[in-house]
Amino acid sequence: MAFKTLDTNEQLAACKALINGAACDGSSGEMLEVVCPSDGKPFATIPRCTGADVGRAVTAARQAYEAQSWAKLTAAERGRILLGLSNLIAENQDNLAAIESRDTGKPLTQGRADVAAAIRYFEFYGGAADKISGETLPVADGYLAMTLREPHGVVGAVIPWNYPTQIFSRVAGAALAMGNALVIKPAEHACLSVLRVAELAHEAGLPKGILNVVTGFGDEVGAALAHHPGIDFITFTGSPQVGTTIQAAAARNHIGCTLELGGKSPQILFEDADLDKALPTVRNAIIQNGGQTCSAGSRVLVQETIYEEVVERLRNKFRALVAGPHDQDLDIGPLINAAQARRVAAFCERAKNERIPLIAEGTIAPDTPEAGFYTTPKLFGPVPMTSSLAQEEIFGPVLAVIPFKDEEEAIRIANDTPYGLVAGVWTRDGARAIRVARRVRSGQVFINAYGAGGGVELPFGGVKKSGHGREKGFEALREFSVLKTVIINHG
Ligand code: NAI
Ligand code: MG
Repeated sequence: MAFKTLDTNEQLAACKALINGAACDGSSGEMLEVVCPSDGKPFATIPRCTGADVGRAVTAARQAYEAQSWAKLTAAERGRILLGLSNLIAENQDNLAAIESRDTGKPLTQGRADVAAAIRYFEFYGGAADKISGETLPVADGYLAMTLREPHGVVGAVIPWNYPTQIFSRVAGAALAMGNALVIKPAEHACLSVLRVAELAHEAGLPKGILNVVTGFGDEVGAALAHHPGIDFITFTGSPQVGTTIQAAAARNHIGCTLELGGKSPQILFEDADLDKALPTVRNAIIQNGGQTCSAGSRVLVQETIYEEVVERLRNKFRALVAGPHDQDLDIGPLINAAQARRVAAFCERAKNERIPLIAEGTIAPDTPEAGFYTTPKLFGPVPMTSSLAQEEIFGPVLAVIPFKDEEEAIRIANDTPYGLVAGVWTRDGARAIRVARRVRSGQVFINAYGAGGGVELPFGGVKKSGHGREKGFEALREFSVLKTVIINHG
């Protein structure tokens, strides 16, 4: 397959979609350019697939699923193939990290961390495949009842561009471990690592048709997949707007879905917090991946008594931040594309018009290519809770500092956005940490920590506009399966 040879110096490598175990072009014959965000230059092409290609992929997945080529293997055998894939990803870590960084613009260290998480996903789900089971249930005399946990069948997945390798691996790891067949639509802005890992999955022994990757536009390929009557479940990670259309399509087909739709996650700093530990984490949680992270810590809530000190210390940290090309491996890379750079700039412009003070701004490295999609990291505060800076997901390296008086007000502000994905609580008072953790509405809460380097073991997902359903950990195996109850009359 042409894709295998893609090295990061190659010019305009023609990549292929993957349907029924074979590398292929889309039925339109058209190709889309893959642009490196660091210099704005195309370096590869991907097929612009269409609804017809989605149809082929769903049919291939259905046939492979019905032929029992995957689900009939024992759970241990499926697990071994996933463990083999984990090892193959590890062997290819440098190449995959280089592809991921060039495709997304993320610094190389981040690319390596993402591949390390992918290795862990397939290791975790490879090991978990044979450790999920049903129950026996007491009913009536003469009866035996049990639950069987079975795959959905054909699972559709639409995934975003911010962490292609990681999000692909968290979906594929869990869905494949449960015995499903998959059709994945990666984002048009970043899908090369997904294609490469899918290829490695076949080298590891995955039967053809069980994992299909269809490239192209969201409103063309993604929408066709979401609406396809041949899928049995769909999972989506991306914007709330598209999430709504995915859930509506799932409703029409009467299938289940999980949605992971980002956040406006707060880190709450009480006056007794260990600031030496907290502040580097507060900084990292918003600059990681240029802030293009669903779980980015994009608000920092600071108790009034330490507000000045925190602002002063964060100011120094933000001034020292430097953005530059992925291969220079600086604090942040460029944003994914021009549209995202415009979106982030528009939020900052609006903040300026609303006279929200810009406390500090980082810099862009000298000699950075003009055509790259760079933005400087920015620290704003005090940010009023009514502003878009405090309410909306920016998906850029922009941190909003918000003061609070006491515990009650901290909780109220933390919960006062449409989102609820992750929160951080920093305090030396253990009872307060637990009180706050229990009242914050979010899918995960960290106490004196934030972010978990992939955290493949930890159920992850949102409440409110952040979505529903859980990815990661054993919970994802439950999402990607369905319970059947069998009742036996043995007299
Ligand atoms: P998006 O939601 O449009 O893209 C995510 C995925 O959905 C991509 O694969 C895309 O091709 C697909 N898609 C787009 N339109 C579709 C449709 N009509 N039907 C089916 N699939 C479709 O996100 P976008 O526009 O790239 O980013 C906009 C904002 O969304 C970001 O600024 C950020 O706030 C949020 N976002 C959140 C993510 C997360 O991790 N939760 C990831 C990406 C974006
Ligand atoms: Mg969009």
